[in-house]
Amino acid sequence: MKVWVLNGPNLGRLDLRDHSIYGDISFKDLTDFCINTGRELGLEVEVYQSDSETQIIHWLHEASDKKIPIAFNPAAFTHYSYAIRDAVAMLQAPVIEVHLSNPLSREEFRHTSVVSGVATGTIGGFGLMSYGLALRALATLAGKGK
Ligand code: DQA
Repeated sequence: MKVWVLNGPNLGRLDLRDHSIYGDISFKDLTDFCINTGRELGLEVEVYQSDSETQIIHWLHEASDKKIPIAFNPAAFTHYSYAIRDAVAMLQAPVIEVHLSNPLSREEFRHTSVVSGVATGTIGGFGLMSYGLALRALATLAGKGK
């Protein structure tokens, strides 16, 4: 089964972000981890990242049309993009919202997710393991609708 891991703004530069929050990892580490974990779970994982809301919405539309399950870290868009929320609401396969950090233990503006209410579930606070848990959830939910 094909699964997409979509990542929002600034995650492509993880190695330059606050290591005390995101860990000592690069985006390549994240990509390799997801592909390897997917392989163990029998999933064909493709990892994408964009800083552009438009690009992310286009990927979400394509995933909806192709019924592709998604692990999705919307990054800062999580907290305010109604356009991304609306695109997530149209998905036809499971979508797990993923965060490396635990947004609820951080600044107040991160306590709101406009995406959670239309996601199948949310996993945050476990670093790379958040992605591993999301992929495991998707493997378990395989073939089910959102
Ligand atoms: C993040 C949390 C967001 O609040 C933040 O804007 C990010 C990354 C995470 O993975 O912990 O860019 O989604």
